[in-house]
Amino acid sequence: MDPRPSIIATRFARIKTVIAVASGKGGVGKSMIAATLALSLAKNHRVGLFDLDVYGPSAHLILGASDLQPTEDKGLVPPRISNVSFMSPVFFTQGRASPLRGSDVTNMILELLAITQWRKLDYLILDMPPGIGDETLDVIRFVPNCTFLVVTTPSKVAMGAVDKLLDILQELHRPIIGILENMATEPSPIKDDITKRSLRYLGSLPYDPSLEAALGHPEKILTTPFGQSLRRLLPAIERYETAASSNK
Ligand SMILES: Nc1ncnc2c1ncn2[C@@H]1O[C@H](COP(=O)(O)OP(=O)(O)OP(=O)(O)O)[C@@H](O)[C@H]1O
Ligand SMILES: [Mg+2]
Repeated sequence: MDPRPSIIATRFARIKTVIAVASGKGGVGKSMIAATLALSLAKNHRVGLFDLDVYGPSAHLILGASDLQPTEDKGLVPPRISNVSFMSPVFFTQGRASPLRGSDVTNMILELLAITQWRKLDYLILDMPPGIGDETLDVIRFVPNCTFLVVTTPSKVAMGAVDKLLDILQELHRPIIGILENMATEPSPIKDDITKRSLRYLGSLPYDPSLEAALGHPEKILTTPFGQSLRRLLPAIERYETAASSNK
């Protein structure tokens, strides 16, 4: 018998809200949104950011956290950067590729979820890998009370892949905060599809060429047009959380 799922449940009992930033599609801005969301929420809340992209972790590059390391205290305590507790597989791979197969990925995810000492948090943001592979299915299965913030770009190609993730989440009755459109255009070609599914369209974030120069500098990211647009969408995300927790 594997004791880790029950250890994970105990650890997560001290976390009020878990938000997985996910998409069926790669490269749509999940990591950028997850990291910026964590930085924005950390201005007023206790926040953690967990990079669960075992094959291509990138949140450490966005935060400028490459030189940090967790410390040991009845588990691994994530290092803090800009008021965000941050955990990433990159702390264990030192930037090398991790050529893992299916069950090894699940083992690594379970191990990281079980070993990390988040302590008390208001929000834990999960930076998810693209698609509906092992990591996504593991999070759906093992992370208690996980809500999903789904990211897409304004393209039917992206929405085609995102639809498959939404199908799975809706079939399994997982809570979906809503859909966020990144690198948006006007008018949105996907807004109607989202509302037809009875899901919330949370809003849009602009394509922002100034983001690249801000990478690795959390305070700069927050002042970019992208960072400021995301901040304006926070009430919609927090409102969902308040409603969900009062229904518990
Ligand atoms: N709104 C935006 N404006 C400009 N550049 C952006 C925007 N959003 C994301 N990017 C850039 O696009 C690239 C992909 O973003 P990101 O890595 O966050 O996507 P992802 O969905 O996490 O990708 P993956 O599926 O590989 O995990 C990065 O270089 C990021 O800086
Ligand atoms: Mg990513």
